[in-house]
Amino acid sequence: MLSNSQTKRLRADATGQRDAFVRAVVDGLSRPQKSLPCRYFYDARGSALFEKITELAEYYPTRTETGILTTYAREMMDGTSSDSVLVEFGSGSSRKTELLLRELPDHAAYVPIDVSTDALAAATARIARRFPRLDIRPMLGDFSELSRLPNDFKTRQKIGFFPGSTIGNLAPAEASRLLLRFKSLLSAEGRLLIGIDLKKDKATLESAYNDSLGVTADFNLNLLAHINREIEPVFDLESFRHAAHYNAREGRIEMHLVSRRDQRFEISGHRFTMRAGESIHTENSYKYSVEQFQTLARCSGWTPVRVWEDSEALFSVHELA
Ligand code: AVJ
Repeated sequence: MLSNSQTKRLRADATGQRDAFVRAVVDGLSRPQKSLPCRYFYDARGSALFEKITELAEYYPTRTETGILTTYAREMMDGTSSDSVLVEFGSGSSRKTELLLRELPDHAAYVPIDVSTDALAAATARIARRFPRLDIRPMLGDFSELSRLPNDFKTRQKIGFFPGSTIGNLAPAEASRLLLRFKSLLSAEGRLLIGIDLKKDKATLESAYNDSLGVTADFNLNLLAHINREIEPVFDLESFRHAAHYNAREGRIEMHLVSRRDQRFEISGHRFTMRAGESIHTENSYKYSVEQFQTLARCSGWTPVRVWEDSEALFSVHELA
């Protein structure tokens, strides 16, 4: 049972989060190139749709990274001190993590960090069942805002884990700031294992974001549905279509929602218009060559140590120290 003050605090949190959502939406739609922050893809439906994306034939990153981890987990974890702490940024279902946890020494600890209470609780319960001796310390919150780890881990070796090429959502300058932040969080002796999607031919990249079942389209359009549910019913989803293309100059996949017609809408008192063909930019997914990512890492306080790839060079997992 929650106390009255706890209930009040939860309500205040929820209101604060809704206000921040409204501000972000109004702010993004007020720009010359309209945009919406991609973190708002992930309401319950969006998270379920993303899970479906990871199982699509065209979406190679998840299965390829899982393959790399399956093959090399032991190598990745060799030499790890017996009381090391694995810290996962945005742990979600913690499914890939199990491949590393299996190779961790006996006195290790695991710190999954996630914004979703439900995901964190479910993953913690499953991991605790499968690894009964593991010290698990879930932390609820945004990993990009986290400033310290549990105090008793101060002197223990930390290994950061940031799979999925999640860092690809950030432009290189922001990615660099995040890597620096991880360095200070994991301290000078810390290591980082980070998954990075590799540059490759345009056709393979574009089909991963234009799947034949239309799941990615539903995922993209769900951002508007999320606004309709959480803020107010503004958007007619039929008036938009999904578009994704590789911008080779920027080295990124861009996802957009393109207006099918001239239209106007109003959100919390702010009026917007869109011409037919005008788009809302909803996501960037940056791709790197191994060398490009290692250069970025060097500029961000890290030293590249090892890198693992699949046989087709679709995806990479980097060890930084
Ligand atoms: C979770 C950000 C790595 O960029 O590939 C998948 C998200 N968007 N399909 C990616 C995503 C559309 C994904 N990341």
